[in-house]
Amino acid sequence: MTQSVQVILADVNPTDPENWRLKSYLKRDGYAALKKIIANKIPPENVIEEVKKSALRGRGGAGFPTGLKWSFMPRQYEGDKYLVCNSDEGEPGTFKDRDIMRYNPHILIEGMAIAAYAMGAKTGYNYVHGEIWETYERMEEAVEEARLAGFLGNNILGSDFSFQLYNHHGYGAYICGEETALLESIEGKKGQPRFKPPFPASYGLYGKPTTINNTETFASVPWIIRHGGEKYLQLGKPNNGGTKIFSISGHVNKPGNYEVPLGIPFAELLEMAGGMRGGRKLKGCIPGGSSMPVLPGDVMMKTDMDYDSIAKAGSMLGSGAVIIMDDTTCMVRALERLSYFYYEESCGQCTPCREGTGWLYRIINRIEHGKGRPEDLDLLDNLADNIQGRTICALGDAAAMPVRAMLQHFRDEFVYHIEHKKCMV
Ligand SMILES: Cc1cc2nc3c(=O)[nH]c(=O)nc-3n(C[C@H](O)[C@H](O)[C@H](O)COP(=O)(O)O)c2cc1C
Ligand code: SF4
Repeated sequence: MTQSVQVILADVNPTDPENWRLKSYLKRDGYAALKKIIANKIPPENVIEEVKKSALRGRGGAGFPTGLKWSFMPRQYEGDKYLVCNSDEGEPGTFKDRDIMRYNPHILIEGMAIAAYAMGAKTGYNYVHGEIWETYERMEEAVEEARLAGFLGNNILGSDFSFQLYNHHGYGAYICGEETALLESIEGKKGQPRFKPPFPASYGLYGKPTTINNTETFASVPWIIRHGGEKYLQLGKPNNGGTKIFSISGHVNKPGNYEVPLGIPFAELLEMAGGMRGGRKLKGCIPGGSSMPVLPGDVMMKTDMDYDSIAKAGSMLGSGAVIIMDDTTCMVRALERLSYFYYEESCGQCTPCREGTGWLYRIINRIEHGKGRPEDLDLLDNLADNIQGRTICALGDAAAMPVRAMLQHFRDEFVYHIEHKKCMV
């Protein structure tokens, strides 16, 4: 069994109601990284260099190298620059960011303060998903604690570095997790994605240079600064530095969040989650959140849990939401449920997504309800082809990829449904 070094959840005790507070965080070496860079006047570019060395990749879905993203911010620009944390977490299967904010909110605040220092941002927003009130309130309390203790606000720890952080309560729409829709939403507009380019580093919040990272990404930063980028990299694998929190749901004995080194074999992770419920067989697994392609159980059992290995196996690590499906799962029903989600959450701005997600859902729905036609599978393939890569944002891809993967790996079940008008399982 892998010996886990935990970066974000180390010594976090969800059963202790005071564990999230500043005084507990300080006992766990909290704010030591921020104190270190301020006391030693570490040049901002060295902080970015350390993050580059760590091979930390964005934990929000795309896995983009964080240090590289930070280096895109024009530090020399003297006007306002913004830092935004994406705590929207709407992807089905993902429930890690809310636990970070609930049980260890100061690690996020410290990570954002360090990022602001590195990129010269004076103002930051933490965009919290609209449906999680208690978490938002917890973040409000934590920000206030940090402000009173001098870790946020003007002249942090007596230095000339100032950083104001605000929590922003979102509206509960999945699309507001897409970074540019999120920016529109903070600006008080309808949460609809913008065309890219320009990217947020040059035209972000209120048209100013902005860096957006996921909650888990920022929360990984204090450890990197305390222990060094090299050490963080070594926790994981080359190009896949550090640890990752996997949200495991579905047919396992112990669903929950597990923070493990990147590159851990999937079989080991499954064992940590108590193994398959009722000792049943693993039929399929979505390894990175519901928008990622499903993989058959036997492929998963041979795969390691890091960005590159999952990509090689034919899917994506995404946000690290591992959805486990045993052999009682009807894949047609599962896909029907997923496709309804994307249909419902499309912002309606572009035609292939607005119309296509509806068509995908309606066709899968009729197959599930015994009204499928033999030509439906080719039609689904064709529709998915006409959505993927043809939309303003990646929600279109998120709707199309699961359909293609289900048809690729579990086509027999769809054919059976059409021919027999009932489930195979
Ligand atoms: C439809 C859609 C929803 C998204 N939802 C989230 C989300 O809830 N949280 C998140 O961090 N990133 C989400 N993303 C990815 C963000 O656009 C962005 O890539 C990410 O916040 C960047 O942070 P990172 O580099 O730290 O991963 C979403 C993307 C799309 C297309
Ligand atoms: S792909 Fe869908 S969600 Fe994204 S902008 Fe187009 S219509 Fe909106």
